[in-house]
Amino acid sequence: MEIRAVVDDMARVKAGAIVVNFFEGMECLDGAIATLDKALDGAISQLISQGEIKGKLGEITVIHSLGRLPAARVAVAGLGKPAELTLNKVRGVVAETCRLLRQKGVDDIATIAQGAGIAGIGLEEAARAVIEGALLGLYSFRRHMTEEAEHGEIKQLLIVDSDKANLPTLKRGSRKGMILAEATNLARDMVNEPANYMTPSYMVERAAGLAKTYGLEISVLEQAQMQELGMGALLGVAQGSQQPPKFIILNYRGGDSAEVDVALIGKGITFDAGGISIKPSEGMGEMKGDMAGGAAVMAAIGAVAQLKPKINVTAIIPATENLPGGNALKPGDILTAMNGKTIEIISTDAEGRLILADALGYAKQLGARSIVDVATLTGACRVALGDVYSGVFGNNQELVDKVIAAGGEAGELIWQMPMHEQYKEQNKSDVADIKNVGGKYGGAITAAQFLAEFAGDTPWVHLDIAGTSMIEKERAYLVKGATGVPVRTLVNLVLSLTR
Ligand code: BES
Ligand code: MN
Ligand code: ZN
Repeated sequence: MEIRAVVDDMARVKAGAIVVNFFEGMECLDGAIATLDKALDGAISQLISQGEIKGKLGEITVIHSLGRLPAARVAVAGLGKPAELTLNKVRGVVAETCRLLRQKGVDDIATIAQGAGIAGIGLEEAARAVIEGALLGLYSFRRHMTEEAEHGEIKQLLIVDSDKANLPTLKRGSRKGMILAEATNLARDMVNEPANYMTPSYMVERAAGLAKTYGLEISVLEQAQMQELGMGALLGVAQGSQQPPKFIILNYRGGDSAEVDVALIGKGITFDAGGISIKPSEGMGEMKGDMAGGAAVMAAIGAVAQLKPKINVTAIIPATENLPGGNALKPGDILTAMNGKTIEIISTDAEGRLILADALGYAKQLGARSIVDVATLTGACRVALGDVYSGVFGNNQELVDKVIAAGGEAGELIWQMPMHEQYKEQNKSDVADIKNVGGKYGGAITAAQFLAEFAGDTPWVHLDIAGTSMIEKERAYLVKGATGVPVRTLVNLVLSLTR
């Protein structure tokens, strides 16, 4: 889709549809909607006085211009009560409007920076939200479909403003929105990709592609190097699979020091069958998405490379399958992680924390000043928070607060879960330093508490996205399948950490 910000008068714009807004309780029309109403001989104001257009959030009214305008249609999208408007509502309404128009065969849309000037929303952020809403809401994964979609495609989206002075701001907002939404859609593509394509080696290919396109440094550790580094926990998980494990490192250097300011670690289990502690077959296919954390950190560092903040970021993705092959890890086995700690295996299905243990060990060896890990780690987190909030845990409240704030800006909801000494009891082993399952209760917390042992005293935050990385039903700018959470949060976080 081509995206452009232009200076023009809406009454002169040629498009399949023009999208403007109406708010609940609004008395008179002004700006673009007033211009269009006049050209349409008062059709909009008539629909308002007849009560068909109320301005309720998500209400969409499509009016045909019947030759009164160069544009074929005008869509009036309700944004609800002005005082209650948020950027996330703008994203959602734009997504729903764009999908409806696409369904009607429209292939180019002109709109305004929806929400700008309302409830403290600035022009740049409004433009950004419009672009994010459109690109995220129109996303579909059709790579393996040999037949064309029933609907066409929106080929062009214009953000129109009558004031020339606003153009640079609109362009800035649009560019940022595009970078963020495209990164999110890249992560979605990777998560939606089935595991027979998305192997650890293919993750490497995708990472290499990103590195080439955006000028990132890439290195990939092979099995032999993992052995040299003593990554026994990661190798233990990998030994049940025929696919060679890969340990991917992407570097973005925007700062002037040699230090890694932030390490972003993402769980890269390309398929989680559970290993010998095999999962029930029902719904197992969902586990193709167990590399969502890895995809998110890859996509995020790609976006960071385009935005070029003055900070150093390293993305680390331990990638492997978790399968029950003949050489597979077994319950009762004891592994030694990179940092020397021994781990008793209770369940081979608690594999995420094992590969993350070695990724944390590696990030610490790099001397990372702060670490954020992202993982589809526990069914328990999904039970606790559903598909709305991701869970966040950490050993540093300041960093946790920054992650939550970065999520708020992105419209990605994040709920802090507790950490406490007392949960450590549950992870105690009789035969090793720690065990990989802390019992039946508080599963998301004991998993985080396990990771905390490997993060040590480095400021660290863990995001559990088991519930939020995929959704079963379309919702606002999310479509069924991969959500791309928390790519935009991570990018916002990196920007907020940049001084
Ligand atoms: N990848 C799963 C967690 C998961 C569950 C992600 C549902 C997305 C949706 C993880 O590796 C896992 O299997 N966790 C186990 C841990 C248990 C064995 C302690 C779980 O949550 O059941
Ligand atoms: Mn598992
Ligand atoms: Zn898993």
